[in-house]
Amino acid sequence: MVWGELYSSAFERVRAKVGNVKGVLLAYNTNIDAIKYLERNDLEARVERTGKEEVIQYSEELPESIKGVPQLLGSILWSVKRGKAAELYVESCPVRFYMRRWGWDELRMGGQVGIMANLIGGVYGIPVITHVPQLSKLQATLFNDGPIYVPRVEDGKLKLLHPREFNNNEENCIHYIYEFPRGFRVFDFEAPRENRFIGSADDYNPNLYIRSEFRERFDEIVPRVQLAIISGLQALTRKNYREPFEIIRGHLEVLNEKKVPVHLEFAFTPDKTVRKEILKLLPEIWSVGLNEVELASIMEVMGEKDLAEKLLASDPVNPIAVTEAMLKLAELGVRRIHFHTYGYYLALTSYRGDFVRDALLFAALAAAAKAKLGDVSLINDIASAMDVPINDKAKAVEEALVKEYGMKNGIAEVSGYQLAFIPTKIVEKPKSTVGVGDTISSSAFISEFVLR
Ligand code: AMP
Ligand code: GLC
Repeated sequence: MVWGELYSSAFERVRAKVGNVKGVLLAYNTNIDAIKYLERNDLEARVERTGKEEVIQYSEELPESIKGVPQLLGSILWSVKRGKAAELYVESCPVRFYMRRWGWDELRMGGQVGIMANLIGGVYGIPVITHVPQLSKLQATLFNDGPIYVPRVEDGKLKLLHPREFNNNEENCIHYIYEFPRGFRVFDFEAPRENRFIGSADDYNPNLYIRSEFRERFDEIVPRVQLAIISGLQALTRKNYREPFEIIRGHLEVLNEKKVPVHLEFAFTPDKTVRKEILKLLPEIWSVGLNEVELASIMEVMGEKDLAEKLLASDPVNPIAVTEAMLKLAELGVRRIHFHTYGYYLALTSYRGDFVRDALLFAALAAAAKAKLGDVSLINDIASAMDVPINDKAKAVEEALVKEYGMKNGIAEVSGYQLAFIPTKIVEKPKSTVGVGDTISSSAFISEFVLR
């Protein structure tokens, strides 16, 4: 199989037709990411000053939320030690102030919706209608030019404006992103992989606050789109999920009535009750996107503990275990499951066609461009990722799938579903990792419809 040729053919075909999509609805989480690239000396000195013994406790077990500086620093160490992403709500104002004074190297668009809006609207040129819980001046400046819209009601009429024309000067929702490269050392810890810890100083997104325009005028927004992507359910807890879930159920009803396929982008959801509630939404959802940690956490609440453990046991993740887990999700009624991990992607669909695989290839190029550059601003940035090599580790994954399911050219038939596989391009020294998952899932979902 010549993956290089498949990559370039998929890219050219998506590029030629990507502008044909009529419109995409993106809800619910948008925020400002203040990115700090961690430095060893600075971090160690902060830990020492705060009290190393207490900080280290939290590097062993993450707190539920951040109530003090020791918890903040300990949670950062937790991520570094494992090379795993984590995100916690910062409750305390003094900690928010501490993070603000610690500072950042870069301000970037954040939240799945914000990141996808800049990509789909700003780079692919597809009109997007986005939910921005709070549209501050700073938040507005982070939106790219292009057909990106937020709804506003004026004289009783629903209007669509570019976020920079919104002019309401609402609050700043800032998430502090502490990024570290592979091999980053602090005390005795060494990061096995590049990743980040996120502290959210934000009272809107973590509670899934939904604006009145989306609560009251949703049925007027939906006819303007062909596809929808929803995200941002991850920070809810058993205490606050009920009200937003009710609104979401109502939104799904309208979307399904108007035959708009909906993709749900998973993110790590610590609360088990919320995870179970998300599972109940799946019959109303066309497609889901997730990584190995998210898939394992879903298997856990489905009572599949052994499978959950298998998903986290090896690197690269065992693709047969992934397929088994995806089949369990498919049985809940979702038509497309897109799994992404470091090195390869899989899509299990209730329908068939090479376009499912080709959409994954396009997404892998977009992901490599995002990892390499930090931000993708032109479609040509994506073309430049063609040079990034396909990683070697995926060969064993491909062989396992060929042996188990007789896969050919990245496509197999498994228990009445189609399984599509691709090996991905891995950027050796990524600029940043935040938002790569969102880039993958949204690019694959959209380009599947482009290629149909
Ligand atoms: P998430 O954890 O959902 O944000 O998604 C991260 C995904 O980004 C992983 O599953 C990989 O597929 C991809 N990824 C991470 N690091 C790199 C890299 N250095 N180059 C290309 N893709 C990457
Ligand atoms: C989460 C974080 C946000 C970040 C995004 C990237 O939504 O809250 O800060 O930009 O993930 O995927």
